[in-house]
Amino acid sequence: DDAGPDTEAPLYDALPQDIKDAGKIVVGGDIAYAPMEYYDEDGETVLGFDKELTDLMSEQLGVTFEWHNIVFDSLITQLKSDRIDMIMSGMSDTPERQQEIDFVDYYIAGAMLLVQKGNPEGLQSFADLCGLTIAVQRGTTQEGYAQDQSATCEAEGQEPIEILSFDRETEAMLQVKNGRAVAGMQDYPVATYNARTSGGGEDFEVVGDQVQAGPLGIGVSKDDTELRDALQQAIQAVIDSGDYDKLIEEYQTP
Ligand code: ARG
Repeated sequence: DDAGPDTEAPLYDALPQDIKDAGKIVVGGDIAYAPMEYYDEDGETVLGFDKELTDLMSEQLGVTFEWHNIVFDSLITQLKSDRIDMIMSGMSDTPERQQEIDFVDYYIAGAMLLVQKGNPEGLQSFADLCGLTIAVQRGTTQEGYAQDQSATCEAEGQEPIEILSFDRETEAMLQVKNGRAVAGMQDYPVATYNARTSGGGEDFEVVGDQVQAGPLGIGVSKDDTELRDALQQAIQAVIDSGDYDKLIEEYQTP
C-alpha cells in the first residue's frame, strides 16, 4: 500500500534517514520455508511467523516491510550489495555469519531429522546416517552439520554420508518423500510443521533429538547499525506488548 510512513509511530524516529525517505524496509527471504515464511495458495501473499513478526514491528516503526523472494544461499550477498535492507528467513545467527553481517535475534530453535512416515530405516540419531543419503538446503547450517557428521563417520572408519544439496528446502524434502534420501534436516518448527501437515500428516515424521540449538536472527549490514538498533527496539516493543508471546503460541507445534 502507498499510505506513506506513519511518522507518529512510537519508533519512527529511531529509523535511519534512507529508510524514512523510502517509507519501507526491503526484506529478503527464501519464501518457501513454512511456517517461518511461505506463500499462500495464491502464490503472492506472504504468510508465516517471520512475516507476522514484521507486521507487528511495522506498527512500531511506522514503515512497511516489503518482502522479496530470494534463494537462501544468496541472501547474504544480496544484503552486502545493498539490494535488500535486511534478511529474515529463519536464518541462524552463527559466529561464521557474524563475520559478514550483524544479527538481531528473534527466535530460538534447534534442528531435527525428518524421515518418511514409519521411519523405514529405523534412524534414531545423526550417527545412524553414515553410509546413507541426506537431502538438505544449500548454504544452510543443516548442510554444514551433515558435512561435519559425515567427517565423523569417516573418522570412525565408517562410510561418509552422501549429501544432496538443493536451492529450495521443498526440493530437499521431495527427495525424502520419494525415497532418494533417507532423511532431511530442518529447523525444529519447520520439521514439526512438515511432519504434521505434509500429505495430511502421512508423509513424514521427525526422529531423534534437536541439535544445533541457537538463535534465528534478522540479518543487517554491518554498516547499518542505526537500522539494526531500530529493529532491535521494535522487537523489544513487540515482546513488551505481549504480542510476541501470542505469536509464539499461535505457531506452537503440539
Ligand atoms: N536456520 C537454517 C540456516 O540458517 C536454515 C534456514 C533456511 N531458511 C529458509 N528460509 N529456507 O541455515
